Amino acid sequence: MQYGYFDDKKREYVITRPDTPWPWINYLGCGDFFGLFSNTSGGYCFFRDARMLRLTRYRYNNVPQDSGGRYFYLRDNAGNSADSQSVDNKSSDIWTPSWKPMKSELDRYECCHGMGYSRISSARNGLAFTQVSFVPLEDTCEIHKITLTNESKKDKNIDIFSFVEFCLWNANDDMTNFQRNFSIGEVEVHGSAIYHKTEYRERRNHYAVWSVNVPVTGFDTDRESFLGLYNGFDRPDAVFAGKANNSIASGWAPIGSHHIKARLAPGESKTYVFVLGYCENPEDQKWEKRADYGVPGVINKAPSDALLKKYSSPEAADKALADLNKYWDDLLSRFTVEAEDKKMARMAGVWNQYQCMVTFNMSRSASYFESGIGRGMGFRDSNQDLLGFVHLVPERARSRILDIAATQFPDGSAYHQYQPLTKRGNNEVGGGFNDDPLWLICGVAAYIKETGDYSILEESVPFDNNESLADSLFIHLKRSFDYTITHTGPHGLPLIGRADWNDCLNLNCFSSTPGESFQTTANFESGVAESVLIAAIFAFVGPDYVEICLRTGQQEEAERAQKAIASMIDTVNKHGWDGNWFLRAYDAHGKKIGSNECEDGKIFIESNGFAVMAGIGLDDGRAKKALDSVKEHLDTPYGIVLQQPAYREYHLELGEISSYPPGYKENSGIFCHNNPWVTIAETMLGRGGRAFETYKNICPAYREDDSQLRRLEPYVYAQMVAGKDAARFGEAKNSWLTGTAAWTFVSISQYILGVRPVFDGLLINPCIPPDMKGYSITRYFRGADYHITVDNSAGVEKGVKSIMLDGQHLKACAEGIYAGSYVLPIFGDGKVHKVDVVMG
Ligand code: BGC
Ligand code: NOJ
Repeated sequence: MQYGYFDDKKREYVITRPDTPWPWINYLGCGDFFGLFSNTSGGYCFFRDARMLRLTRYRYNNVPQDSGGRYFYLRDNAGNSADSQSVDNKSSDIWTPSWKPMKSELDRYECCHGMGYSRISSARNGLAFTQVSFVPLEDTCEIHKITLTNESKKDKNIDIFSFVEFCLWNANDDMTNFQRNFSIGEVEVHGSAIYHKTEYRERRNHYAVWSVNVPVTGFDTDRESFLGLYNGFDRPDAVFAGKANNSIASGWAPIGSHHIKARLAPGESKTYVFVLGYCENPEDQKWEKRADYGVPGVINKAPSDALLKKYSSPEAADKALADLNKYWDDLLSRFTVEAEDKKMARMAGVWNQYQCMVTFNMSRSASYFESGIGRGMGFRDSNQDLLGFVHLVPERARSRILDIAATQFPDGSAYHQYQPLTKRGNNEVGGGFNDDPLWLICGVAAYIKETGDYSILEESVPFDNNESLADSLFIHLKRSFDYTITHTGPHGLPLIGRADWNDCLNLNCFSSTPGESFQTTANFESGVAESVLIAAIFAFVGPDYVEICLRTGQQEEAERAQKAIASMIDTVNKHGWDGNWFLRAYDAHGKKIGSNECEDGKIFIESNGFAVMAGIGLDDGRAKKALDSVKEHLDTPYGIVLQQPAYREYHLELGEISSYPPGYKENSGIFCHNNPWVTIAETMLGRGGRAFETYKNICPAYREDDSQLRRLEPYVYAQMVAGKDAARFGEAKNSWLTGTAAWTFVSISQYILGVRPVFDGLLINPCIPPDMKGYSITRYFRGADYHITVDNSAGVEKGVKSIMLDGQHLKACAEGIYAGSYVLPIFGDGKVHKVDVVMG
């Protein structure tokens, strides 16, 4: 069953009923200010940091689902609706046009999620409502442009009540220290502008403003006055009374609500521009008037005045939206796809890249599954996310790399997370995730391949955020590389530390205490537990390190690195192969994990995908054997599960992985992030059909008509889909913030469709199903546009027969690392270059 459809022309997903199987959300904002916006106008917004600078409250993990948002209540005082939800207002009809929070019956409803904006349109009893919500490119605010249209034949006498609930305190206090919040809430009201200035009198120099561009009849800023103590958002006293209380909050729960009266003749429309903004003042200009006994200080409104003036007309809002549209058109023009398979084209060309930008902005901080409080920016996550957006915003990728690298420790290991506001490593979590350092090499290599900018390697970057420990970025990469080879275990494989990519394989944490964190309570470092996955990652990213050395004139270092890689591959061959697939790890007792010898957890996806990606076993049939085993033991129609058999019981020596019930999360869930590793690995074997199958199985657009089971947005990837051992096999969890976005984009764009940025140009090597007859791609790369068409009338899975570049035959590279491959040269001339690829 579907709950909407893709409008490919407008790049929108159109939701056609409000009761989606889970709130289906969008992200507003692409700079410093962001909003999470559900299909019923739920969600919240924040400036930079969802914990410290959250403007509005949101009730995570609550009943009912999706409580809190920017709500508009409408009251039609003619009250001729038979099903009026108003109990004590027999003559009036009251409803919420975004469906929630009143769950009002609507004559029509639609929510379009587009690129950085959302639009809800509905109608009830002859009154049409449209809400266009977005964050303008230039300002730190949400704009909600509301239009009411009288579609009936009678005059309408309408009351509009807006509603937001303010936060601007540490969002963690919402749950843990709310007794403090109850004493500190402060507001000011001037005309139509409601100012939320909690904590402004002490250590904040910023406040929030919620305003509308017309005069108001009344307002409320105190939640209890507006709602009534025992009411939910679905039954606000003020709306039911038809009158605001002009309440001024003092502590407790500050809110912002405007009351506007609108008279609409038949056919008439009225538009209102609501602005929810974040404003900052320099420390010495905080006040217009200082506080005195009994008289609170008056905040300096210069920044909010400017903001509200700027968006004081519908035309100004429209202009800002047009600018935003242009921004996205430009971004997405860098990589476009046209193909017969519309689902693939819309995902690869639009939604997958859009999601990559969201992971760039959010990392794993704020979604409908992540509270915006718990996790900062992940070292490993941010480096991998980069793979998905470096072609869109290379300059921003550059500074992101420098931020991440600054949280590396001098020995090459890294803080696992850092805080976006301070950009400092997070002490509570610390380091010890031994895959982390290698992802830095992966991210930097992707950046250099995209841009050719080797100067980044010379940037001076602190270690441990300490300037006095700064060295060049290249030295950071060297330390990453060396950390891996100097931290090996009894078999010569890399030590796993607290965990590798699989956060839940905690082989040095023996936790029998409820509530203890598996990740941070590594109770000892065995010096024994080893990871075959880290070895495979090393073998995959190592060659890029070698190339970087060679291209910066460091021949000796390149040779040293080459030897270390060869020796690591040797070790994997000796100690990392189980007969039919690659092993996963050795535990702290030296016992195998991911071996046929094991009772549960005999075979894992990660080491198999990555080892083949690294080219291990390609020459002797083991790569094929490994991927065949993956297909045989781990494959399902919804994707490849993480391991099999699932752990039936909790194993003290394995950590969090065995704490999940079979089929969920890291215990045999379909952990989508690692599926594209298998996709890429399949292309290394030239099996285009299988590669595309693994791509499709986790791709949300292909499961749109199965939305009841999958439950999450059909336009974005989810972190996890319940595996075959789970009761809810096929149900997805944790949409949006997942490394799946970046890696699927890499797998489809670079390895299936086969347009891959490499150090010297764009390597062309498609690997597709034989029945895919062709497609075209436009790719902006280092200052030029490549218009590429691929003709597969030969019906092959892999192999380029010929390439015409601007009408001339292109020769395959004769030597070097790309020998035998076709690499489009770097033009950098701002022109369009026509590339015709014939497979065969
Ligand atoms: C995993 C979660 C786990 C969390 C920390 C994440 O990477 O996906 O399953 O609970 O780390 O424990
Ligand atoms: C989600 C985490 O953000 C990521 O870092 C990790 O690799 C996966 N879970 C797997 O555990």
